Amino acid sequence: MVSLRDSFSRKIDYLRISITDRCNLRCRYCMPEAGVPSVGHQSVLSYEELLRVARIAVELGVRKIRLTGGEPLVRKGLLDFIAALAKLDKPPELTLTTNGLLLADQAQALKEAGLSRVNVSLDSLKPERFSEITRRDQLPQVLKGLEAAEAAGLTPLKINMVPIAGVNADEIADFARLTYAHPWQVRFIEFMPVSSGLEYRPEQRYPAAQIQADLEQVAPLQPIPRQGILGPAKIYQFSGAKGSVGVIPAVSEHFCGDCNRLRLTADGQLRPCLFSVEEIDLRELLRSGVADEALAEVLVRSVKAKPERHCIQEADFQPGKRPMQGIGG
Ligand code: GTP
Ligand code: 5AD
Ligand code: SF4
Repeated sequence: MVSLRDSFSRKIDYLRISITDRCNLRCRYCMPEAGVPSVGHQSVLSYEELLRVARIAVELGVRKIRLTGGEPLVRKGLLDFIAALAKLDKPPELTLTTNGLLLADQAQALKEAGLSRVNVSLDSLKPERFSEITRRDQLPQVLKGLEAAEAAGLTPLKINMVPIAGVNADEIADFARLTYAHPWQVRFIEFMPVSSGLEYRPEQRYPAAQIQADLEQVAPLQPIPRQGILGPAKIYQFSGAKGSVGVIPAVSEHFCGDCNRLRLTADGQLRPCLFSVEEIDLRELLRSGVADEALAEVLVRSVKAKPERHCIQEADFQPGKRPMQGIGG
């Protein structure tokens, strides 16, 4: 059977689907204040189209599907879509990355629909700073969302924090200490200067080594061996903690050698790499009435187009036109 193996022998079994480019926050490292021009209703893939792509991807060996955005919980009809994904033959693990604003309302229903867990992006535990970074005064809503996700069993719950020098990097220890009281995995993602025109400068990147040093100030870090479908985080635990902490060295290290992912944007473009300039159009094909085999071929082709590694640290790296919010991280 055809499977998704790239030119460097990596097996691709993780599909990240951005279901909308819209968002209800305006994080300064991700979106301009006015938002970005939406890709338009016509261009966004319908749930039927997404389900068809997901089914074919699963037939080709995809074992995990993550729904991203923008903010995925703002798209109507999501619960039915998740329920349909959960009914695929050999259902994949279904996960979602959210800013948490709508989780308090939706957590229970998401779980019932078949979602297994969520990752919540949260960059400050201080209300004023949260408002400054996201341009919305909604921290209490996100904290309620975390509780609701925990109560609904959308676990293990992961929190993604992006430390930025001079903005919120002084909160690394506070975030890490959350793991004493909660069984959460708190992950620190190195800021990636990936799209032009946003508010924080590349020099404000807070290097993974510095993140790790800050964590070591809290307590000695005990490495936890990686299990299951591998991700980019290095995971540690403090002695006596209920949860764990992770560091995602998105820029300073290449975890590309272990990369297992393919991305689909809300407007139906396959991205072989998070930092791809090249995209492969699936939307036109989907709408031209082709057979499943032709769609499968395009998935195989985009996996073959995966680069060996990203080159965002090299001098001639050009940030892509598509902002992070249009890729879904
Ligand atoms: P788990 O399944 O819970 O491990 O989630 P995940 O880490 O795959 O997904 P999540 O959406 O929480 O991603 C965390 C962040 O890691 C992303 O938003 C990116 O910032 C970063 N990241 C994810 N994939 C890649 C990648 O392929 N390359 C790089 N450089 N960074 C990535
Ligand atoms: N650098 C690092 N992480 C980013 N995210 C969004 N933009 C960036 C960036 N420039 C993170 C969000 C979220 C995930 C999907 O991507 O915080 O957790
Ligand atoms: Fe929205 Fe996430 Fe971008 Fe913030 S980082 S504006 S929550 S898509």
